Amino acid sequence: MPVLIADRATIARAADLLRAGRLVAFPTETVYGLGADATNEQAVAGIFAAKGRPAFNPLIVHVQDLMAAEQLGVFSDVARQLAQRFWPGALTLVVPRRPDCRLSLLVSAGLDTVALRVPSATVVRALLEESGLPIAAPSANRSGRISPTTAAHVDESLASRVDLILDAGPTQLGLESTVIGCAGDVPVLLRPGAIAREEIEETAGPLHRAAGTIQSPGQLASHYAPRATLRLRAHSVDADEALIGFGANVPAGAKQVFNLSERADLREAAANLFAMLRAADAVAARIAVMPIPAHGLGEAINDRLARAATPRDEP
Ligand code: TXA
Ligand code: MG
Repeated sequence: MPVLIADRATIARAADLLRAGRLVAFPTETVYGLGADATNEQAVAGIFAAKGRPAFNPLIVHVQDLMAAEQLGVFSDVARQLAQRFWPGALTLVVPRRPDCRLSLLVSAGLDTVALRVPSATVVRALLEESGLPIAAPSANRSGRISPTTAAHVDESLASRVDLILDAGPTQLGLESTVIGCAGDVPVLLRPGAIAREEIEETAGPLHRAAGTIQSPGQLASHYAPRATLRLRAHSVDADEALIGFGANVPAGAKQVFNLSERADLREAAANLFAMLRAADAVAARIAVMPIPAHGLGEAINDRLARAATPRDEP
């Protein structure tokens, strides 16, 4: 794929691609990110497809400044203090999504929180300004590989899976951002990173450590689970069930049908998954879900459905 030196013209082209729902890799001060329009479900689904992730992990959304961040998430006093001290920079804050948050649901992997970061590197800042979009961007590597700190790493790992790679040389820090959870009563260190815990504790006070590493939403206590019971791999449907369908041949008789993708396209299905789970949950106490193929993005869709079907432990 085209690796282009980042300059005004190539950044403008990258912004056009993002607005068109395409994927662009770009350098931040930490590592190279694989970016998409964070308000576009399909584009965000494209990130998961390109990374080959077996599960939907929530992604970091990059924004221009704290004001832009506060339009998307709810900031507690300590979250705001951390943002004021460390932004722009290598700190990511996980905060509750605002009720009117216009971000893709997939970007949060169905959680009611969102990870926000205001980066400091020139190229990503220019791209945020030029595109006018919040940009979802995990590290620009295939799942399970090491995070890329040069454009050549991105090219090796993602090659034809990304529409454009902006090259501005090796990244300054070479380590991902520190992720702090600010959705609960006390700030939690979710991922150690480029800013040391001690530095953050000067502002936030003692950080609690997350139990285990948070790799996927299923490991989070607050993960979104429907109220309704889910019946997976359903080939027929009862009259009191909402049906989450896939493909053209949907069984008749459901209370209401939500088709993830009539043309059986897994990327479209991924883009619709969380919104349709919520919609189905709102209209029925039981949800039947048709079989979803296990390949490609189907693996992550099935993973998420299996978690949603597992009864949540009552506290
Ligand atoms: O430096 C970085 O953070 C790079 C650059 C590109 O900004 N991005 C990055 O993204 O490393 P990614 O997707 O590889 O890592 C995101 C981390 C994961 O550990 C994920 O679990 C956590 O942030 N995360 C994101 N949203 C979350 C949420 N709502 N709740 C808990 N953890 C979340
Ligand atoms: Mg990563």
